[in-house]
Amino acid sequence: MNKMLYNQTIMDRSRLIDIEDRGYQFGDGVYEVIGVYDGDFFLLDDHLRRLKRSAEAIQMMLPCPIDTLKDNLKQLVTMNQLKEGVVYLQISRGVAERWHQYPSNVSPVLVAYTKVEETMKEEAKNGAKAIITEDIRWLRCDIKTLNLLPNVMAKQKAVENNAVEAILHREGIITEASASNVFIVKDNCVMTHPANHFILNGITRMKILELCYETGIPVRECAFTIDDLRMADEVFISATKLDIVPIVFVNDHKIGTGDPGEITREIINCFAAAIQ
Ligand code: PDD
Repeated sequence: MNKMLYNQTIMDRSRLIDIEDRGYQFGDGVYEVIGVYDGDFFLLDDHLRRLKRSAEAIQMMLPCPIDTLKDNLKQLVTMNQLKEGVVYLQISRGVAERWHQYPSNVSPVLVAYTKVEETMKEEAKNGAKAIITEDIRWLRCDIKTLNLLPNVMAKQKAVENNAVEAILHREGIITEASASNVFIVKDNCVMTHPANHFILNGITRMKILELCYETGIPVRECAFTIDDLRMADEVFISATKLDIVPIVFVNDHKIGTGDPGEITREIINCFAAAIQ
């Protein structure tokens, strides 16, 4: 059984969740999913920076300094001998009598555990199907909060339609997907929604933008429509450990030739090299 880290102490899975933990009752907390490749974290500092930002956005204290957290997470991966997978880390505001407003004098509750997870090798090679559905989330999607019900509902719809992801739109503008960011390629230019309150600024997304700048692939952070997506030459999604998956069907509409495109493949190769 994997070991968990609970308020900086290594505990086992038998630890109970308090019924008045605000993460459990209100989704009042933040989380991160951090990739581990060949036993090493990928972009750990970036994930911890985003965690701090998410906590600040909801005026929540972190239970310990980031450097302590970083050391504990490394210890967790070593202890569980995780080679390929993710660390799931969540911090709730803490345990308090159930009133909606932030309680005073509450200590945040931190839980982290390792999960074995492979990258989507088959889909990365051959491409996959996505569906489009309405983005019914709130207006602070930039915060990685524990409130994921709209995302859960969208992903369920994708699965029921034999798709790997649900691509979300707000009044016809593509924002992101239920658990990943969305990119299109048109006339050799890569496009993705700007990092504002409508999307989670993915750590993988930021790495892809950096790789595009480095390799000279033209890239723009701009809004695009459902029609732009359907008419794109290439489409791909990105997220931690999913990495990059080409989307070759959107609903029953074929994207480009129906095979992963050249630019997507180039970015996949650059990304794989960055992980090494
Ligand atoms: N989700 N957008 C949303 C809504 C997400 O939930 C995620 C990741 C991303 C991609 O972010 P990143 O590249 O930092 O993983 C974008 C994680 C993996 C999850 O909830 O399991």
